[in-house]
Amino acid sequence: MPPPTPAAVIEAQRNDWNRVAAGWDKWDQFFDRTMAFINHRLVADARIRPGLRVLDLGSGTGYPALLAGEVVGTDGTVVGIDLAESMLAVATRKAKTRGLQQVSFRTGDVTSLPFDSGSIDSIISRFCLMFLPEIPKAAAEIARVLKPGGYVAAAVWSAPLNNPFIRIPIDVINTITPLPPPDPEAPGIFRLARPGDLAGMFKRAGLTPLSDEEFTAEMTYESAEDFFRGLMDIAAPIQNLFAKLTPAQQREAERGIITAVNDYRRPEGVSLPIAVRIVSARKPQ
Ligand SMILES: C[S@@+](CC[C@H](N)C(=O)[O-])C[C@H]1O[C@@H](n2cnc3c(N)ncnc32)[C@H](O)[C@@H]1O
Repeated sequence: MPPPTPAAVIEAQRNDWNRVAAGWDKWDQFFDRTMAFINHRLVADARIRPGLRVLDLGSGTGYPALLAGEVVGTDGTVVGIDLAESMLAVATRKAKTRGLQQVSFRTGDVTSLPFDSGSIDSIISRFCLMFLPEIPKAAAEIARVLKPGGYVAAAVWSAPLNNPFIRIPIDVINTITPLPPPDPEAPGIFRLARPGDLAGMFKRAGLTPLSDEEFTAEMTYESAEDFFRGLMDIAAPIQNLFAKLTPAQQREAERGIITAVNDYRRPEGVSLPIAVRIVSARKPQ
């Protein structure tokens, strides 16, 4: 079967993330706290400071745009772009609740940025770029809209081996119904996991790579059951795999995932390692 066209991938992404927007809203407080360190790292790597004009690519329900908004203050602006209007509705509500009038969100595709060349000081992005069908095009757009000397910092998922919270569900489903071997070039969770991949794309787009680091941490859930509920509420790609199973296979997968995740039980809950690749680059002066 030929690979889906870029337009078909974009449309599927929009549908996927719109479908899970309510789940992201439900789990917002949990992920806000457990993943805040990634936002801080991106804001630091993109050298965001008061007064800057910042872009967040694939903002979803507002991360890391909202933190960037606090840093730029009312003399700056942050615009978050995303395909999924339902995710952005949550982000917009949060910006309003927090009184961040300098933060706004608009629908759009990050491979075609609706901004003038050389108009943006800093670009940040968390867990979006690996889902694009044409990542080099997005890298070229980033290079185009950044001002000379501007920074980009992006977080993507690192290798499956170091991310049991994503690897376990995929492995369990694979034992129930064999999945096609992953195409390393196809858009998906681990598309940019390899060191040098995204940094190389930034370089070929004319940016100067600054850092490419696997950043490890842990995410602690109350229980394995709690982890499973969160997964099914927010992880659109895993939901898509689940949808291919019969109801009996889904129950089997749920049991298998909960059993495997319980291996990570600690006194404070179930603590799963995560590994995020954080890549930054700068546009030459
Ligand atoms: C895993 S979510 C991450 C959301 C947010 N950045 C966060 O870390 O919480 C991925 C987001 O990327 C968005 N996305 C995927 N492809 C995109 C594209 N081509 N243009 C804009 N947004 C895209 C999805 O709609 C989704 O909201």
